[in-house]
Amino acid sequence: MSSRAAGGRVSRWRPARLSLSLALPLVLLAAAGGAAVCPERCACSLDLRGRRQVVCAAGGMQDPIPIAMMEQKQVEVLRISAPLARLNALTIGPIFQKFSRLEELHITYSNIPAIGKHSFWGVPTLQILNLTHNNVSHVLDYNFRGLANLLELHLDDNRIESMPSGTFRYLQELRVLSLARNRITELVPRLFLMLGKLHQLDLSGNRLLELNPEVFKDVQELRVFRCRGCGLSNINTLIYRLLPDLTLLDLGDNEFKYLSSDEFRDLRKLQELRLDGNQLPVVLERTFGGQSELQRLTLARNRLAKVTTSAFANLTTLRDLDLGYNKLDRLETATFVPLAESLRRLDLSGNAISLAEVKYVLQVVLKLKDLSLSDMQLTDLPLGLFVYHEHLRFLNLSGNHFTHFPSQLLSPVPKLQELDLSRNRFRGLDERLLYRFESIRALHLHSNPWACDLCHIIPILNRINKTAVNMFKGLRCATPYSLEGRPLETLQRSSLGWCSSSGSGFGYVEGGGAAGVTTGFLGDDSRLGLIAAGAAVLLLLVTGAALLAGVAYSRHHAAHYYTREEQRAPEQEAIFENPAAILSENGDIKYKIVPMDVSKPPPKKKKMSVSTIDGITKDPELHTLTNGT
Ligand SMILES: *[C@@H]1O[C@H](CO)[C@@H](O)[C@H](O)[C@H]1NC(C)=O
Ligand SMILES: *[C@@H]1O[C@H](CO)[C@@H](O)[C@H](O)[C@H]1NC(C)=O
Ligand SMILES: *[C@@H]1O[C@H](CO)[C@@H](O)[C@H](O)[C@H]1NC(C)=O
Ligand SMILES: *[C@@H]1O[C@H](CO)[C@@H](O)[C@H](O)[C@H]1NC(C)=O
Ligand SMILES: *[C@@H]1O[C@H](CO)[C@@H](O)[C@H](O)[C@H]1NC(C)=O
Repeated sequence: MSSRAAGGRVSRWRPARLSLSLALPLVLLAAAGGAAVCPERCACSLDLRGRRQVVCAAGGMQDPIPIAMMEQKQVEVLRISAPLARLNALTIGPIFQKFSRLEELHITYSNIPAIGKHSFWGVPTLQILNLTHNNVSHVLDYNFRGLANLLELHLDDNRIESMPSGTFRYLQELRVLSLARNRITELVPRLFLMLGKLHQLDLSGNRLLELNPEVFKDVQELRVFRCRGCGLSNINTLIYRLLPDLTLLDLGDNEFKYLSSDEFRDLRKLQELRLDGNQLPVVLERTFGGQSELQRLTLARNRLAKVTTSAFANLTTLRDLDLGYNKLDRLETATFVPLAESLRRLDLSGNAISLAEVKYVLQVVLKLKDLSLSDMQLTDLPLGLFVYHEHLRFLNLSGNHFTHFPSQLLSPVPKLQELDLSRNRFRGLDERLLYRFESIRALHLHSNPWACDLCHIIPILNRINKTAVNMFKGLRCATPYSLEGRPLETLQRSSLGWCSSSGSGFGYVEGGGAAGVTTGFLGDDSRLGLIAAGAAVLLLLVTGAALLAGVAYSRHHAAHYYTREEQRAPEQEAIFENPAAILSENGDIKYKIVPMDVSKPPPKKKKMSVSTIDGITKDPELHTLTNGT
């Protein structure tokens, strides 16, 4: 068949007068790719590993599977799938015998009701069989006869209800078995008979309620075991004793209410442990004391109110710790001491831990690359928070109550690549921050109440079409009413109104409870807001440069008691006229600690940026300037 195909190619190529030396490789390629004979609406090509592959993914296929149109002796990978809206309706039977090189067979989203007797008899080359997303309800041992070399069997997302003992007994080489999201309620004894080489087992999404240790006697080589959402409330620890080589254990989204401190005693090789989405109220002392190789621990979405001081004792290799969305209101610094050298990722989101305690914890784990503090009702961060975290690459502050964000916060973290400030209360951003944002590769700003008026949005509009990657893509106005829902990038400056049109005040007071961290912040902000509004109105009326200076002067004069804008304004201008001015050699933004000196005369403002309103944080450690929107 392949020679016929190749011949066809040659005759078609001839009119192009290709020299033989050029034509020959093309011919070979065509034959090898199986490109000459290919079923309608399928694609025949070489896969990434150079194997001949047939892919039929258009959907709507009916029986029979068009194998007659395939070069059966050549195909190494066959993938039949469908988009969700156009599922296939296929059955399978013993049709693959002539596929003498078939290594991978994927027939998914095809409504296959049953695997059939001896369907794979005579296909000993098959290594991966993927029948996920079908309608298989029963599996029996004869379904898999002849698959002596099968390494992976994927049957996820079917309707399998029953599997008798020894179902997989012909699959003696099997390494990976996944049965996730079926309707299995019981694992019968000896279900996994002859699966002595199995390394990975996924039973997630089956309501098993309990696991019978007996079943695991046949799979003692297991390295990866997942049973997420299995309705488990405890595990017979005999299972752990049978599976001493486990490196990954995923028991997320179950109903564990208690873990004894020696629960995982027998799992000494564990590298990843997922216990998220359970109901654990506490992590007891030394629960992971035996897991000296543990790298990743997920305890998110439990009911943790307490993590004991020595809960993480011995976890000196832990890189990734997720405590998000618990009920923690306290954290002890000592808890994190064992992790000081190893921890790279920390998620404390969704807890009501005070910023002061977060700060102490951060002072212990200095090698963090990835930090999430989402949904913590934060209104403000102390400027010095990241001073020792030069390695930080990812920072998630989404779902907080920020209305402003001092760019100086990010000065100590020059390597930051991704920042999530979505779902906050920003109505605009100031130029300085926007400038700092330009070196951040991925920025998330959606779901903020952007105020599309001259007070808030001008700095963004100034940059919107100028940045290489449009970081404002998808952002929409929230106010004023007339522009609600408008994408920022379609705004015309001329259609913008003055701040007063945003109705309900200037917005800076909306933060609600800015309490605690920065005292007096609200008062300053709202007053400043009024001053800026006043300045804006004046601007509208007066255009002369002299008058502008006058406005600036009065504004500064009114504000100078608590802002120190005089010192900052020249610097700010310098930034935007010559951005390099504030950059140190390695490209970070320097931040200056300016003395309380208000004796200098106010500068003439060349560029009026009414959208910038200055506040001052009273951070005891880093008494320096902050600016806001
Ligand atoms: C099985 O097929 C599904 C759907 O085509 C695909 O998403 C999945 O990655 C495949 N599994 C394997 C192990 O190749
Ligand atoms: C899946 O199989 C069941 C019987 O096992 C049948 O009732 C149902 O209609 C099938 N689903 C589809 C979408 O064909
Ligand atoms: C912690 O590790 C040390 C040595 O690595 C070991 O002696 C000790 O038993 C471990 N602690 C627990 C609670 O297992
Ligand atoms: C930040 O955290 C929120 C809440 O946990 C999450 O939904 C979002 O995907 C995270 N952002 C990024 C970029 O991962
Ligand atoms: C940005 O570009 C779009 C078209 O690409 C244009 O419609 C829009 O007016 C521009 N916005 C600004 C602020 O220049």
